[in-house]
Amino acid sequence: MTQVLDPTPEALKQAANLIQKGEVVAFPTETVYGLGADARKPEAIKKIFAAKGRPQDNPLIVHIAEISDIGKVIDGPMPEHAQKLAKAFWPGPLTMILPKGKDISLQCTAGLDSVGVRLPANETARALIKLSGAPIAAPSANTSGKPSPTLARHVLDDMNGRIPLILDGGACRVGVESTVIDARTQPVRILRPGGVTPQMICEVLGEVEVDGSVLRPLNPGEVVRSPGMKYRHYAPQGKLTIVKGKPESVAQKICQMYDEAKGLRCILAKEEHLALYGDRDVRSLGSDAAQAASRLFDLLRLMDDEGMSAIFSEALDAKEMGLAVMNRLGRAAAFNIIDA
Ligand code: TXA
Ligand code: MG
Repeated sequence: MTQVLDPTPEALKQAANLIQKGEVVAFPTETVYGLGADARKPEAIKKIFAAKGRPQDNPLIVHIAEISDIGKVIDGPMPEHAQKLAKAFWPGPLTMILPKGKDISLQCTAGLDSVGVRLPANETARALIKLSGAPIAAPSANTSGKPSPTLARHVLDDMNGRIPLILDGGACRVGVESTVIDARTQPVRILRPGGVTPQMICEVLGEVEVDGSVLRPLNPGEVVRSPGMKYRHYAPQGKLTIVKGKPESVAQKICQMYDEAKGLRCILAKEEHLALYGDRDVRSLGSDAAQAASRLFDLLRLMDDEGMSAIFSEALDAKEMGLAVMNRLGRAAAFNIIDA
């Protein structure tokens, strides 16, 4: 049985105790829910991999509550450009890959000599890290391959009976996982887009690179800089098709495919385009990319819950926050993207 508790002081204490005993606890962050354990304890980390069914070669992000804790996680001083990014975006949805400190378990970094570090903006997350006195390793709290959880209910759906406790912090504000950058070299390189956009990083450092794998599938034999990019992610059971082009042409193409498809089917469209789909089953992605990000994973899970066999989605402009949305949507569709 898995307990779901509001993050009261008592519940936080109980969660911190579990972390100190080497157990796993799910907690909210501003991006998605995380599945946390003490990053220094290999046996605790193994429980995270087991609960998620996560491939052994995919490293976990380590979470800290204060910038002054960075020395417990990384090796050596923080490079100057990383300090600038920390000052600009922490607490917040940015993960920086830096040389691994000796106390962080190799179990946590999947044997790598680097570690992803993040200082989350969610108060419950920070309180839990402080109370447990540990750097907390936490991947997203979903079963491996499923969309990341943005509600405590999503975590329960995946983790019931597998972990002792979920702290319920309501809906996650950002809704897609943090931006992951390799901060060991300059220019820094974005391996996974998120709430901190390339433009935002560029404003602070003057330059940024976006890894080529962000908006396409990996080529056979391609070296992956971020192991998580290898795996099929977020995919719903039904066939997801993304359509891009001018709004009217996109709507026309989607309506045609929807009408020809069999079984339960659904359309994902921007708020302003809903009327273009008549009385077909259409769900709103909201009015901008930030709203789409905060709704996307819940919508993808809903598609499975409702047994949709075909899903048609409008594409978003892959710029600023739209880059993170199109990265997730593209992977969910195995990059099945049609030009209208
Ligand atoms: O927003 C988030 O980042 C959430 C919350 C809970 O903080 N966490 C999260 O963790 O999304 P996860 O494990 O689902 O995704 C971490 C990604 C994976 O793609 C992993 O391969 C990559 O970051 N990663 C972690 N450490 C790395 C490292 N040392 N080198 C390269 N990639 C790394
Ligand atoms: Mg994940």
